[in-house]
Amino acid sequence: MKKEKLDEVRDFHNGIAGKYDELLQKNRFSVILRSLFQKILSEYGPGGKTVLDLGCGTGDDALFISESGAVVTAVDISQNMLDAAQNKSRASIGGKNIRFVKSDIERFLNDNNTKYDLLISNFDAINYIEDIPAFSNGAACALKPGGSLIITVLNKVCLSEFFYSLLTFRFSRAYWALLNRNKYLVNGLWLRSPGEMKKLLAENFTLVSATGVGIFIPPHNLEGMYGKISFLLPALLQAEKLGRRNRFFCNFSDHYIIEMVKK
Ligand SMILES: C[S@@+](CC[C@H](N)C(=O)[O-])C[C@H]1O[C@@H](n2cnc3c(N)ncnc32)[C@H](O)[C@@H]1O
Repeated sequence: MKKEKLDEVRDFHNGIAGKYDELLQKNRFSVILRSLFQKILSEYGPGGKTVLDLGCGTGDDALFISESGAVVTAVDISQNMLDAAQNKSRASIGGKNIRFVKSDIERFLNDNNTKYDLLISNFDAINYIEDIPAFSNGAACALKPGGSLIITVLNKVCLSEFFYSLLTFRFSRAYWALLNRNKYLVNGLWLRSPGEMKKLLAENFTLVSATGVGIFIPPHNLEGMYGKISFLLPALLQAEKLGRRNRFFCNFSDHYIIEMVKK
């Protein structure tokens, strides 16, 4: 990534680090995504494994797996995010098993000589990377044979955003929600569909599964919708659970968690 772009990403995250946890804890979608991601991590039995968390932010996932006995290297470009993560780790039982590194993801992978069992990245850090094939090579080098890559990616299209934009008469946004959200979402993010992501990583990784999040429930940027549709929520949450691992619905979810294994 170009230096100016990287500086922008770093400054943005330095600016939000102080209120990041509070924002996420208040946001229903984020709470659902976090718990689903951590449920998937648990299925990998992280105890005793070495884990690389890329774009660790305030460290919730690094702390979660370190408490199950994993030894974690947690990387982030933002010093304020790392400070918040380090503060939390001091009060945590697993905290001593985490090594924090301030670095750009691509540079870290370039310079890295260690092999990990798992490489994880939650909540869009991978969306900041333009050159996914290069990332794929770096990630594969950083993994032991048979190692796994588990990442959460912000999708390019989103069915629930289409419907909720229609309900609020934002027709242009509804149109782009179905075609390409790169047209209006925050600059600097590279939005890709699960199929595109799978292809970009295919040289080094085989798909294990993709799990959609935010298929029927409003995505995190539409948190305000929850008040208006609260009577529908139990049904939407149930539909969300049923649609989660369905390939068709996953293509239209706000985020997806992609699990891949090194070839
Ligand atoms: C939305 S936050 C997610 C944080 C954390 N993974 C979570 O689940 O809460 C994205 C994080 O990725 C970091 N990040 C974005 N691009 C990065 C890059 N190129 N290198 C290192 N960190 C990066 C940001 O600083 C930020 O902390």
